[in-house]
Amino acid sequence: MSATAPVRSVLPPDIRARKGTAPLVVLTAYTTPVARLVDAHCDIALVGDSVGMVLHGMPSTLGVTLEMMILHGRAVVRGLSKAMAVIDMPFGSYEESPQQAYRNAARLMSETGAPAVKLEGGQHMADTIAFLTARGVPVMAHVGLTPQSVNTLGGYKVVGREEEAVKVMTDAKACEDAGAFSIVLEKVPVGLAGRITAELAIPTIGIGAGVDCDGQVLVVDDMLGLFTDFRPKFVKRYAELGKTADQAIADYAAEVRARTFPAPEHGFADQVKK
Ligand code: KIV
Repeated sequence: MSATAPVRSVLPPDIRARKGTAPLVVLTAYTTPVARLVDAHCDIALVGDSVGMVLHGMPSTLGVTLEMMILHGRAVVRGLSKAMAVIDMPFGSYEESPQQAYRNAARLMSETGAPAVKLEGGQHMADTIAFLTARGVPVMAHVGLTPQSVNTLGGYKVVGREEEAVKVMTDAKACEDAGAFSIVLEKVPVGLAGRITAELAIPTIGIGAGVDCDGQVLVVDDMLGLFTDFRPKFVKRYAELGKTADQAIADYAAEVRARTFPAPEHGFADQVKK
């Protein structure tokens, strides 16, 4: 028998209870090795549908499928021992009806082991959030800039300036009233994000929404500087791994071309001869 108690992983009620206490630390993860890194330092590993753009080179998140989210969700859950996985419901998998949303959310949870899903939308998704929550599906909501609506919003811009602010506030409150256990505020003006955070009893998790939210989320590849070309303005880069990787690959290519690539220390060639 093991002498050490198993580590209990974080669950949606723990996240809900964090309101007004220590800030929530959230990063995206799409693979097992990155999930292991995130698990050591974060409360939540978000399997975002940004995976389509970040790992699959898609021009937007609209082409991401339920099967992709299940595959990446499984990989991430395997890498976690304490942080909670939340899986994005992809475009077209939940908007039609609460029943469609339940069917697909149940697949995401049962086939990956993740204890919660995230979906985009405010007031118009409230019935769906209530339907899911009542049937054992904890929902993280997502308002402000909702990237799956990029074509109706007309781009990836700030949402909630001037008269739009009332709609974002109403959307956030509707999600809370419907039972969401937390809510992402993406690219919402800093003052508005602060007001929503003060009004809501559930934690707000900001991305490009300022420091007054109850937590922050970033796309892990962005904050690690894994891209050498694309740089979202609001993201601080905590490393420049893209540059480091580029240099390492350039060094390797130069050594192969110059035939200075090191011979294996274990004398592989001799073993082959025997
Ligand atoms: O898909 C994603 O990574 C997200 C975060 C940016 C919040 O939804």
